[in-house]
Amino acid sequence: MKPLSISVVLAALSFPALAADKVAVPPAEVEAVVQAMFKSALEDWKPRVGQDETQRVCTDTRNNPPDAEAAKIKARELASIAYPEDGNVMGDWKKGEKIAQTGTGGQFSDEPGTVNGGNCYACHQMAAAEVSFGTLGPSLLGYGKLKNFQAAENKLALAKIFNAQSVVACSNMPRFGYHKFLSMDQIKDVTAYLMSPDSPVNK
Ligand code: HEC
Repeated sequence: MKPLSISVVLAALSFPALAADKVAVPPAEVEAVVQAMFKSALEDWKPRVGQDETQRVCTDTRNNPPDAEAAKIKARELASIAYPEDGNVMGDWKKGEKIAQTGTGGQFSDEPGTVNGGNCYACHQMAAAEVSFGTLGPSLLGYGKLKNFQAAENKLALAKIFNAQSVVACSNMPRFGYHKFLSMDQIKDVTAYLMSPDSPVNK
């Protein structure tokens, strides 16, 4: 049998090295490409292209931060939460239902003036009658009942919706209040939809 030529052996040996080089693109280079892609974005969209400290750590750790980093993220995100001044965290569950079912807002294709929705059903089961829902997040069917309709739990629910990463570092759930994607009134309405004994979520 003819022995393999040296060049063939070298080529075979160098392939794994090439593959390794490919995954080791420095994050700064990736960031520069992303920034360049959004050069013509509207002025008020531009801050959304950059990462904040939390997003950077989540990217660097592939959403799996070591415990010490996760604790830092949760503390920082918790500090961002602004609670309603009068202490009332429960709005109108009927309005909240609409917000949970609405997936428009924040997209290039929206009509100007579109009010943002929470799109909760894209990731969560909520009311039993709704048959169309995503499963990226856990089912929230009966969530308020599960928490015994406790006032302290209502406040925790509002905090979760305001900033999901105050509870779970690098969560896939959007930070609705932190990004001002939903207003405080909208967040209170969704909290009531989730937590009120009158809401279909808890029937
Ligand atoms: C893009 C997907 C996504 C959307 C949209 C989303 N969530 Fe979540 N949510 C998640 C995921 C994933 C979790 C589990 C991880 C965590 O707790 O952050 C979660 C967790 C939760 C929890 C905590 C449940 C528990 O275990 O106690 C609540 C409450 C919640 N979501 C409410 C909402 C509400 C209300 C909305 C709409 C305003 C919403 N979510 C929109 C993905 C989403």
